[in-house]
Amino acid sequence: MLRLESVSKYYAAPDRAIAVLDEVTLSIASGEFCALVGPSGSGKSTLLNLIGLLDRPSSGTLWIDGEAVAGCSAHESARLRNRLIGFVFQSFHLLPRLTAWQNVALPLQYRGVPRDAQRAAAEAMLARVGLADRTGHLPGQLSGGQSQRVAIARALVGAPRLLLADEPTGSLDSSTAQDVMALLAALNAELGVTVVMVTHDRELAASCPRQIALRDGRVLGSGSGTC
Ligand SMILES: Nc1ncnc2c1ncn2[C@@H]1O[C@H](COP(=O)(O)OP(=O)(O)OP(=O)(O)O)[C@@H](O)[C@H]1O
Ligand SMILES: [Mg+2]
Repeated sequence: MLRLESVSKYYAAPDRAIAVLDEVTLSIASGEFCALVGPSGSGKSTLLNLIGLLDRPSSGTLWIDGEAVAGCSAHESARLRNRLIGFVFQSFHLLPRLTAWQNVALPLQYRGVPRDAQRAAAEAMLARVGLADRTGHLPGQLSGGQSQRVAIARALVGAPRLLLADEPTGSLDSSTAQDVMALLAALNAELGVTVVMVTHDRELAASCPRQIALRDGRVLGSGSGTC
């Protein structure tokens, strides 16, 4: 599903280049559920953004679904992103003036899906995440856990192959965080979508079938059990 070979990312500092990711080599199989863990500044978000085609590596190769994607044009990256990848962030990123279903429908709108079909698909996905009775609410009328469910529905409505989540439970209390985690695990099992989730929560990470540990831009270890 996903393969990185010797992927590095450098940022220019006044006197030298700083390696934020240093020769990362990693494979993730289709349908896996992985926690990406590591201290603050270890490169987790940078790695997720490279995998999600939001950023480009300084060197190395990245394959998604057998396609070498690191050298794609911005236009081609955007097309692949819309088709293959869903994102969830800590701060939800819902558009405040759109209702829950209109937020969920956005990826379908970008694809040119007719409005009736957008609405039907968005409402079905909201029902799947337990929000059948909140489809007409605005983000300001939803709790944190509900907002994150809307964001998850938006990430999955276009049937992506890969779901990337950067601290999706970081703004939630621990009981709501566990509910959201259980929802992600259920969607991974039912839809077969591959999930890579950054988390600082050791308990949540340990409940994932696989953990990938980063430190100083390098993969320290990868496997099941706590890294
Ligand atoms: N645009 C940038 N220019 C320069 N340095 C950057 C840039 N973006 C990130 N960095 C540096 O890269 C390193 C890794 O950042 P990253 O955001 O990937 O860490 P993280 O593991 O996600 O941390 P956190 O757990 O705090 O979210 C940090 O030292 C950061 O300062
Ligand atoms: Mg981060």
